[in-house]
Amino acid sequence: MHETIVGVAELRARLAGRRGVGLVPTMGALHAGHKRLLEIARRENDFVVASIFVNPIQFDRKEDLDKYPRTMEEDLRVCDALGVDLVFAPSAADLYPREQLTFVESPTLSAHLCGAHRPGHFRGVATVVLKLFNIVQPERAYFGEKDAQQLAIIRRMVEDLNVPVVVRAVETVREPDGLALSSRNKLLTAEERRVASVLFEALQVALALIEKGERASDAIRRKAIGVIERRTQTRLEYFDITDPDTLTPVERIDGPVLIAGAMWLGTTRLIDNVTWRGTPGRSPAAGPKP
Ligand code: PAJ
Repeated sequence: MHETIVGVAELRARLAGRRGVGLVPTMGALHAGHKRLLEIARRENDFVVASIFVNPIQFDRKEDLDKYPRTMEEDLRVCDALGVDLVFAPSAADLYPREQLTFVESPTLSAHLCGAHRPGHFRGVATVVLKLFNIVQPERAYFGEKDAQQLAIIRRMVEDLNVPVVVRAVETVREPDGLALSSRNKLLTAEERRVASVLFEALQVALALIEKGERASDAIRRKAIGVIERRTQTRLEYFDITDPDTLTPVERIDGPVLIAGAMWLGTTRLIDNVTWRGTPGRSPAAGPKP
């Protein structure tokens, strides 16, 4: 049976001197994607901490924060079933007892993809993640590739600020039709759920074109976006082909790329991405086969 701790001082006291801690930061409403992170953390660490905290400072729209699913009792059962040692579930007043006047900013990485559409989002994410790292002092921390920009920003924060935590990336867990698991999927109507997998289909179309030798991002984007726009219920936010580390758009593909998109279905926003890792043994710069 795990222990649930709410207060920062109590958590510090409980973890004092403990080594081999793995941290899985979450906002709760745990699904199979979170479970995969917890399972891997369980395998790799002596002591597993899951944090459950719906972080108000990373929400750019109040409605999104208000309607974010909260399923604490069920989440605690999931943590027990997966052998989590400790759940850290602070309230906003525990993590932000005074007005937060200090933030982690990565303006260059936040200028692209989701960051361009969600002002302040990644500053809120990086700030809370650094706070959690400082409170829990884990040896390893686990993040999903599903949130590729978040992962890139946290990796760079750890590198740039010499944070002594090993960041472990976990592959995206998907529904059978390809839809990436997300706490926000719970908010989709049955009709929206039926079309939700088009984002994944568009990513697959882009990947297939690159695999066939297409190197012009514009041509790839146009075809992939067409797949999404065929479904009138969707509203595309962005669909970009970028450098996996700097997240800057790539015009001609000559190495690994991150292909990422966001779309709206009604009032729910979905994101997804895939990485093209390049063709082994053949330089993509060589262009299409004759
Ligand atoms: P949340 O959306 O709850 O996600 C917690 C972790 O689970 C993140 O690292 C996310 O990338 C991962 N995850 C979500 N869906 C996944 C899927 N389908 N497959 C694999 N991993 C998945 O991301 C956050 O919370 C917050 O921004 C947080 C990092 C906790 C900071 O508040």
